[in-house]
Amino acid sequence: MNVELYERIWMWAAAALIAMFLSGILLTAGLHAVRPPSHMETLDPTALATYPEFANPAVRTQPDGGVVVSVVAQMFSFSPDPIVVPANRPVTFRVTSADVVHGLEVPGTNANVMAIPGYVSQFTVTFARPGEYIVACHEYCGIGHHNMVGKLIVK
Ligand code: CUA
Repeated sequence: MNVELYERIWMWAAAALIAMFLSGILLTAGLHAVRPPSHMETLDPTALATYPEFANPAVRTQPDGGVVVSVVAQMFSFSPDPIVVPANRPVTFRVTSADVVHGLEVPGTNANVMAIPGYVSQFTVTFARPGEYIVACHEYCGIGHHNMVGKLIVK
Protein backbone atom coordinates (compact mmCIF):
# COMPACT_ATOMS: atom_id res chain seq x y z
CA MET A 1 0.00 0.00 0.00
CA ASN A 2 1.37 3.35 -0.98
CA VAL A 3 0.73 6.22 1.47
CA GLU A 4 1.72 9.72 0.38
CA LEU A 5 4.61 11.28 2.29
CA TYR A 6 2.54 14.18 3.70
CA GLU A 7 -0.25 11.85 4.70
CA ARG A 8 2.27 9.68 6.55
CA ILE A 9 3.65 12.77 8.33
CA TRP A 10 0.16 13.78 9.49
CA MET A 11 -0.66 10.23 10.60
CA TRP A 12 2.47 10.10 12.74
CA ALA A 13 1.81 13.59 14.08
CA ALA A 14 -1.73 12.61 15.09
CA ALA A 15 -0.46 9.40 16.70
CA ALA A 16 2.18 11.36 18.62
CA LEU A 17 -0.47 13.80 19.92
CA ILE A 18 -2.72 10.95 21.07
CA ALA A 19 0.23 9.29 22.82
CA MET A 20 1.08 12.61 24.50
CA PHE A 21 -2.47 13.16 25.79
CA LEU A 22 -2.78 9.57 27.00
CA SER A 23 0.54 9.71 28.85
CA GLY A 24 -0.61 13.01 30.41
CA ILE A 25 -3.68 11.27 31.83
CA LEU A 26 -1.72 8.22 32.99
CA LEU A 27 1.05 10.30 34.57
CA THR A 28 -1.34 12.50 36.57
CA ALA A 29 -3.35 9.44 37.61
CA GLY A 30 -0.21 7.60 38.70
CA LEU A 31 1.93 10.34 40.20
CA HIS A 32 -0.65 12.72 41.70
CA ALA A 33 -3.28 10.15 42.65
CA VAL A 34 -5.84 12.02 40.55
CA ARG A 35 -8.74 9.66 40.06
CA PRO A 36 -12.52 9.67 39.96
CA PRO A 37 -14.13 8.94 43.33
CA SER A 38 -15.30 5.36 43.54
CA HIS A 39 -17.58 5.90 46.51
CA MET A 40 -21.31 5.49 45.86
CA GLU A 41 -23.69 6.55 48.57
CA THR A 42 -27.05 8.28 48.24
CA LEU A 43 -29.29 10.21 50.57
CA ASP A 44 -32.43 12.33 50.41
CA PRO A 45 -31.26 15.91 49.76
CA THR A 46 -34.60 17.34 50.92
CA ALA A 47 -34.22 15.72 54.34
CA LEU A 48 -30.59 16.41 55.28
CA ALA A 49 -31.76 17.35 58.79
CA THR A 50 -32.71 13.72 59.39
CA TYR A 51 -29.11 12.53 58.84
CA PRO A 52 -27.21 13.18 62.08
CA GLU A 53 -23.87 13.82 60.37
CA PHE A 54 -25.31 16.32 57.88
CA ALA A 55 -27.87 17.92 60.19
CA ASN A 56 -24.88 19.17 62.14
CA PRO A 57 -21.89 19.02 59.78
CA ALA A 58 -18.60 19.06 61.68
CA VAL A 59 -15.12 17.61 62.04
CA ARG A 60 -15.30 14.41 64.07
CA THR A 61 -12.54 12.17 65.43
CA GLN A 62 -13.45 8.50 65.23
CA PRO A 63 -12.67 5.99 67.98
CA ASP A 64 -9.83 4.62 65.80
CA GLY A 65 -8.23 8.06 65.58
CA GLY A 66 -9.39 8.78 62.04
CA VAL A 67 -10.71 12.23 61.24
CA VAL A 68 -13.98 12.57 59.32
CA VAL A 69 -15.28 15.89 58.03
CA SER A 70 -18.92 16.09 57.02
CA VAL A 71 -19.52 19.05 54.73
CA VAL A 72 -22.78 20.48 53.42
CA ALA A 73 -22.44 22.81 50.46
CA GLN A 74 -25.30 25.19 49.75
CA MET A 75 -25.87 28.51 48.08
CA PHE A 76 -23.41 30.13 48.82
CA SER A 77 -21.36 28.68 51.63
CA PHE A 78 -19.82 25.57 53.08
CA SER A 79 -20.68 24.20 56.49
CA PRO A 80 -18.69 23.88 58.70
CA ASP A 81 -16.61 26.99 58.08
CA PRO A 82 -13.78 27.09 58.97
CA ILE A 83 -12.87 23.41 58.75
CA VAL A 84 -10.09 22.66 61.22
CA VAL A 85 -8.12 19.43 60.69
CA PRO A 86 -4.79 17.99 61.87
CA ALA A 87 -1.72 17.87 59.61
CA ASN A 88 -0.07 14.61 58.57
CA ARG A 89 -3.09 12.48 59.35
CA PRO A 90 -5.58 11.00 56.90
CA VAL A 91 -8.70 13.15 56.79
CA THR A 92 -11.83 11.75 55.19
CA PHE A 93 -14.19 14.29 53.65
CA ARG A 94 -17.85 13.42 53.16
CA VAL A 95 -19.46 16.09 51.04
CA THR A 96 -23.02 16.63 49.91
CA SER A 97 -25.18 19.49 48.71
CA ALA A 98 -28.40 20.85 50.14
CA ASP A 99 -29.57 22.46 46.91
CA VAL A 100 -27.78 22.50 43.54
CA VAL A 101 -24.53 21.08 42.21
CA HIS A 102 -21.48 22.68 43.85
CA GLY A 103 -17.83 21.77 43.97
CA LEU A 104 -15.30 21.54 46.75
CA GLU A 105 -11.68 22.16 45.95
CA VAL A 106 -8.71 23.00 48.13
CA PRO A 107 -6.24 24.60 45.70
CA GLY A 108 -2.70 23.29 46.04
CA THR A 109 -3.88 19.87 47.26
CA ASN A 110 -5.65 17.02 45.54
CA ALA A 111 -8.87 17.61 47.49
CA ASN A 112 -11.34 18.17 44.69
CA VAL A 113 -14.86 16.76 44.32
CA MET A 114 -18.29 17.74 43.15
CA ALA A 115 -20.99 18.24 45.77
CA ILE A 116 -24.12 16.75 44.25
CA PRO A 117 -27.55 16.80 45.91
CA GLY A 118 -28.55 13.25 46.76
CA TYR A 119 -25.01 11.89 46.80
CA VAL A 120 -22.16 11.73 49.28
CA SER A 121 -18.78 12.43 47.67
CA GLN A 122 -16.09 10.87 49.82
CA PHE A 123 -12.33 11.08 49.61
CA THR A 124 -9.40 10.84 51.99
CA VAL A 125 -6.48 13.22 51.91
CA THR A 126 -3.46 13.90 54.10
CA PHE A 127 -2.41 17.54 54.40
CA ALA A 128 1.35 17.67 54.92
CA ARG A 129 1.73 21.43 55.35
CA PRO A 130 0.00 23.23 58.22
CA GLY A 131 -1.54 26.55 57.30
CA GLU A 132 -4.67 28.24 56.05
CA TYR A 133 -6.19 27.15 52.78
CA ILE A 134 -9.23 28.29 50.89
CA VAL A 135 -12.09 25.95 50.12
CA ALA A 136 -13.50 26.95 46.76
CA CYS A 137 -16.66 26.03 44.91
CA HIS A 138 -15.66 25.14 41.37
CA GLU A 139 -19.05 24.49 39.81
CA TYR A 140 -21.13 27.45 38.71
CA CYS A 141 -24.04 27.39 41.15
CA GLY A 142 -25.77 30.73 40.83
CA ILE A 143 -25.41 34.44 41.25
CA GLY A 144 -23.20 34.14 44.35
CA HIS A 145 -20.89 31.42 43.02
CA HIS A 146 -17.80 33.64 43.02
CA ASN A 147 -18.33 34.38 46.72
CA MET A 148 -18.67 30.75 47.73
CA VAL A 149 -15.37 30.36 49.52
CA GLY A 150 -14.65 28.73 52.85
CA LYS A 151 -11.58 28.31 54.95
CA LEU A 152 -9.57 25.20 55.85
CA ILE A 153 -7.14 25.36 58.73
CA VAL A 154 -4.53 22.61 58.96
CA LYS A 155 -2.61 22.48 62.22
CU1 CUA B 1 -21.35 26.73 44.86
CU2 CUA B 1 -20.37 27.58 42.88
